[in-house]
Amino acid sequence: MLNGEKMLFSGAQATNVLTIGNYIGALKNWVSLSDEYTCLYCVVDEHSITVRQDPATLRKRARELLTLYIATGLDPEKNIIYYQSHVPQHAELAWILNCYTYMGELSRMTQFKDKSAKHADNINAGLFTYPVLMAADILLYQADVVPVGVDQLQHLELTRNIAERFNNIYGDVFTIPEPYVGKVGAKIQSLQDPSKKMSKSDENENASIYMTDPRDVIIRKFKRAVTDNEACVRYSDDQPGIKNLISIYSAFSQKTPEEIEREFDGRGYGEFKLAVGESVADVLEPIQKKQADLLANKDYVDSIIKTNAERASYLATKTLRKVQKKIGFPEIVR
Ligand code: TYM
Repeated sequence: MLNGEKMLFSGAQATNVLTIGNYIGALKNWVSLSDEYTCLYCVVDEHSITVRQDPATLRKRARELLTLYIATGLDPEKNIIYYQSHVPQHAELAWILNCYTYMGELSRMTQFKDKSAKHADNINAGLFTYPVLMAADILLYQADVVPVGVDQLQHLELTRNIAERFNNIYGDVFTIPEPYVGKVGAKIQSLQDPSKKMSKSDENENASIYMTDPRDVIIRKFKRAVTDNEACVRYSDDQPGIKNLISIYSAFSQKTPEEIEREFDGRGYGEFKLAVGESVADVLEPIQKKQADLLANKDYVDSIIKTNAERASYLATKTLRKVQKKIGFPEIVR
């Protein structure tokens, strides 16, 4: 039923509608890797509450995200697609790993620094220990590989450190995971400020293309994207706006940056931006249609949610029992 011997784990937060940054940096790679590995793709709803959420909106977004995973091409029979909150072993392992993680390590996490600056009125303990829950997600399934965008690499490095520390004390309990970062598009930038990451929580709607944006909105946003006065489509750090658009076009058209430079040699930015927009819309439209069909098919999605949480829980229990035994918790009497 599952695909390969080696394990893959990844996830995304349902805090907002995903952007094409999430798609290029993560989901697209998930699909291309899914034949090679036994894969778990998690909707990490427990991570989301580190920032205040409206309950009804969170529930709705979580379901949209789970159906989006399937709509992008992940087969829920071959891959384990589920909600983190349906598998309580994540939180249990996170507690244990908290006791093997240092305050100093957590206070160095750039995402914690960024988010606590942004939500100064709610710097909660969950926001601080968030990377430990992420480590638990990954280690619970003995993941060999974790496909992520560049912004998550620091968390992955911490995961490896925690796993190594634990293994040094108790023997080979955890597989040490490797990150997988795509060649192009591991960090898609904002369309309005190419020095900033495209983020689903950006207040400026024109900065991001959302997975739900219709064609006309996509074309309009690309038309407004910030570029430069060079009038030359070149994949260069000196032209960060154009470089970002080339990365996006490359991810959606399967053309290499060099092929794109040749295609637009001597042509204007207007034509180039339109081509980028069309290629993105061509890929997103069928995904949006499939997602709408899934959202309308309640019974089918509910059955996926139930069976996949059971499959995840079975694997998670195996690791958790092993960990509990190693650290000296009393055995459960049956
Ligand atoms: P999240 O929800 O912020 O993002 C999901 C994935 O999208 C990638 N990403 C990007 N890639 C390229 N360009 C961008 N502009 C961009 N923005 C986001 C992220 O790197 C990520 O791969 N903590 C994680 C979720 C998580 C997780 C895990 C991931 C929880 N547990 C275990 C992997 C393994 C997060 O907040 O991702």
